[in-house]
Amino acid sequence: MKRRVFSGSRPTGRLHLGNYLGGVRGYLELQENPDYETIYMVMDLHAITTPYDKENLAKYTKQVVIDYLACGLDPEKSIITVQSLVPEHAYLAHLLSSAVTVARMLHLPTYKEKIKQHPDGATVALLNYPVLMSADILAYKAELVPVGVDQEPHLEVAREIARKMNDKYNLSFPEPKRFATKGEYVPSLTGEGKMSKSVEGSYISLGDSFSDIKTKLAKVPTDLGKGSAVPKEGGVAVLLQLVELFLGKEERFSYEKKYLGEGIRYQELKTRLAEEIYEQIKPIQKRAFELESKKGFVDEVIYDGAKRARKIVSSVLSEVKEKMGLYFKK
Ligand code: TYM
Repeated sequence: MKRRVFSGSRPTGRLHLGNYLGGVRGYLELQENPDYETIYMVMDLHAITTPYDKENLAKYTKQVVIDYLACGLDPEKSIITVQSLVPEHAYLAHLLSSAVTVARMLHLPTYKEKIKQHPDGATVALLNYPVLMSADILAYKAELVPVGVDQEPHLEVAREIARKMNDKYNLSFPEPKRFATKGEYVPSLTGEGKMSKSVEGSYISLGDSFSDIKTKLAKVPTDLGKGSAVPKEGGVAVLLQLVELFLGKEERFSYEKKYLGEGIRYQELKTRLAEEIYEQIKPIQKRAFELESKKGFVDEVIYDGAKRARKIVSSVLSEVKEKMGLYFKK
């Protein structure tokens, strides 16, 4: 049997460069590896754990599937669908929640960060976010999870739950590991923290035009362009990181040398970077545009993916229910 891979992104609108480099690039790499069976979803049940736009949730969900396909995810090679169409995830999350304490969930940095952003949003659904995520992964007995470094605390919870369930109920969940890409941490354009949809001015989206990208990069804070040490944080560090990700390590080194010598001209750097980012996302935009007019095709991918996913998870769920002692018709 092939080893399984599971991952997904929340539908908070179009994907941004962090989602693309930290998430989707990893999905693609593993999709092309014949040793793995790959399952990728749009995590709409996770999207409702923080305030969200009800009118647009379904539209954004489909838009992320379109972005997945436009980036190169292939329904012939991967199962591609929407989390809420596979209700077994939520069912398994309930079973797994019996193996986790409230105290453990309250201590997660991701939970604390979210309630800082939404002080009235400390819901049970948010607290349960890592348990649902564990269920997404364990429902397929997935071994590898391509996600950015920000998701590591959640994977730690998934491993703890796997161990507990295995010990207590004689189950055989593998302990899922993170599959890292070069873009496992894409910094925010503000110069503080990671690129994120929840911070205005922080991100470049896969749908941005060349002029959007130029305008956004123009706002990245810089300095005089030279100094005795290359900055390790703030706007300049962000620009150098993006240069490395889009233009390569050599280019980064050459800008670092300039910083220590004659100085960097940021306008030139930002224009080159904008050109290269746009060059790389332009083909994705073109394919997404074509897919948008093939709406029936996208729905077909989603429904077919859900059918294939449910086949796998229903057998895992049955095994867990039986081993946990739930009533089972023999
Ligand atoms: P989400 O929607 O926040 O992020 C989707 C993917 O994008 C990555 N990512 C980043 N990578 C690098 N730099 C960044 N600035 C950056 N911002 C986001 C995330 O690491 C992720 O890979 N909890 C998940 C969704 C999820 C999931 C799952 C993932 C639910 N269940 C099961 C894997 C397996 C999340 O936060 O997605």
